[in-house]
Amino acid sequence: MEKILDQADSLRRIGANMNNNLDFMMNDTKKNIGHFVRVISISSGKGGVGKTSITANLAYELSKRGQRVVILDADLGLANIDILLGLTSKYNIKDVILGEKSLKEILIDAPGGFKVLPASSGITELTHLDLSQRMNFMEDIEELNDDIDIMLIDNAAGISDNVLYFNVAAQEQIIVITPEPTSITDAYALIKILVKKYDEKSFLLLINQTKSEKEALTIYKHFVTIVERFLGSLSLDYLGYIPKDEKVSKAIRQQKPLLACYPGALASIAIKNLAASILNLDTTPKPDGNIRFFWKKLLEF
Ligand SMILES: Nc1ncnc2c1ncn2[C@@H]1O[C@H](COP(=O)(O)OP(=O)(O)O)[C@@H](O)[C@H]1O
Ligand SMILES: [Mg+2]
Repeated sequence: MEKILDQADSLRRIGANMNNNLDFMMNDTKKNIGHFVRVISISSGKGGVGKTSITANLAYELSKRGQRVVILDADLGLANIDILLGLTSKYNIKDVILGEKSLKEILIDAPGGFKVLPASSGITELTHLDLSQRMNFMEDIEELNDDIDIMLIDNAAGISDNVLYFNVAAQEQIIVITPEPTSITDAYALIKILVKKYDEKSFLLLINQTKSEKEALTIYKHFVTIVERFLGSLSLDYLGYIPKDEKVSKAIRQQKPLLACYPGALASIAIKNLAASILNLDTTPKPDGNIRFFWKKLLEF
């Protein structure tokens, strides 16, 4: 009798263990498949080309189209996304690294329903984390993952490590250029270093502040010819263009999204088209198509 009870007990234990293992496996599978988050960086060689304005308005339009969007404000410069949208941020990623806040707690609500993740001075700290800080940070990311569909990175201009590591970690890279010659040469320098040093091969080109689509296409073709002549064949897709429109600066002065103040402006219409193009891009979830992988790559840079 005692033996039978023993057996029953051990069967129960095996059962319980199996359940635990199953739970564990399910969690693991869930984590591995995860929820697919598109991470898109918006960069340029030269500052002042319109990255921040584009990112803010793109986030606004993508939110309108039902996407849950977070902007990672990775620009240490002055004209940050919070100023552009009249937001105030008390905390940034540094507070998360120090363990004082969670990522969710530092997110700021922006008009139109998207959120801004202020990185500012915390960016440099991100590259100097010890193992336990990294693990804590990754756990935080995990928690955020299911609440986001698209993360847009408003990058600083140039080719400093702070810029490059966001480019390398993002799955899709938008490079903004304008008709200004220096914007074109500086964008070339950025792409060159990303190709030569980091083996990046695929870029989406966005032409801002043009007179017309015709001008945008001329600039695009010219740019692709130069880049391919010196760097060989790459994937340099034309993502679209935004016309020069005084309403962009007007909206900035009002600290509101352009699309909220002037939805019918030419630049607004272009940004709506841009959002549609982004949603139409073929983005089959890649093995690294997860926000976890983005941060992991970033932390290992
Ligand atoms: N399509 C546009 N038409 C007119 N002005 C623009 C346009 N895009 C950007 N600007 C202006 O360029 C300036 C720089 O824009 P910003 O978004 O801060 O650039 P970045 O983030 O690349 O430094 C702003 O004053 C903005 O009003
Ligand atoms: Mg900016």
